[in-house]
Amino acid sequence: MIRVETLHRHFGGFRAVDGASLEIATGSITGLVGPNGAGKTTLFNVIAGVLEPTSGKVFMDGEDITGMPPHALFHKGLLRTFQIAHEFSSMTCRENLMMVPGAQSGETLWNAWFGRGRIAQEEAGLLKKADEVLDFLTISHLKDEKAGNLSGGQKKLLELGRTMMVDAKIVFLDEVGAGVNRTLLNTIGDAILRLNQERGYTFCMIEHDMEFIGRLCDPVIVMAEGKVLAEGSIAQIKANDAVIEAYLGTGLKNKETVG
Ligand SMILES: Nc1ncnc2c1ncn2[C@@H]1O[C@H](COP(=O)(O)OP(=O)(O)O)[C@@H](O)[C@H]1O
Ligand SMILES: [Mg+2]
Repeated sequence: MIRVETLHRHFGGFRAVDGASLEIATGSITGLVGPNGAGKTTLFNVIAGVLEPTSGKVFMDGEDITGMPPHALFHKGLLRTFQIAHEFSSMTCRENLMMVPGAQSGETLWNAWFGRGRIAQEEAGLLKKADEVLDFLTISHLKDEKAGNLSGGQKKLLELGRTMMVDAKIVFLDEVGAGVNRTLLNTIGDAILRLNQERGYTFCMIEHDMEFIGRLCDPVIVMAEGKVLAEGSIAQIKANDAVIEAYLGTGLKNKETVG
């Protein structure tokens, strides 16, 4: 679905992404790991149109999408989760979902003048959809809770829920499990697996927790110093000497987590 060709993103003289090439297969849950500073988030930002590449190309289903703005990619079904913006924290979970741009068919002037009935109908549809999403994510009980009152993990679930209000094809998740307790992490993992299996979502996720990666991701791509170092199953990655080498000196090698 996504092909990245010799992508560079430099900051001044610093090569945050330094000639990375990779592919994300349709229907996969592809993991992206690597030591801190490897360029993972920068790569995501370039793919999602948040940052312009210095050079290189990004293709989606064969179409050159290099440098397209996020909203254009959003309409193509390429989504990146965002933290719930501060100004939405006083809105309820349900309202947050109903506000997702693109979920509404749009309040054109025509609709505003002649389509009041249609808008009411659409609101009811949106409400139903939001409730279905909350149900899917097992957070129905939080529907009238203000987003600002949610725990870190519940916020992550709501962020994931926002992608379900539109027709997503591929969703990029940057450390969705960071700071989330085990129970909620499992709920998030279940939601990702179900979205993948039941709705055909493709995922690419940056994650530190190797147990979480191992449960969800195949293949796993390893980045180091702006380049793709290795790709394979979690078992292959863990046994790869170059990967182990890349984590040496980060102090993370012998711990549960890499990333
Ligand atoms: N806007 C920026 N300006 C300058 N340097 C940046 C910027 N964004 C990221 N970097 C640098 O690029 C490198 C890669 O960062 P990042 O993509 O966030 O890595 P990762 O997500 O793998 O930890 C880091 O050394 C970081 O300091
Ligand atoms: Mg990062």
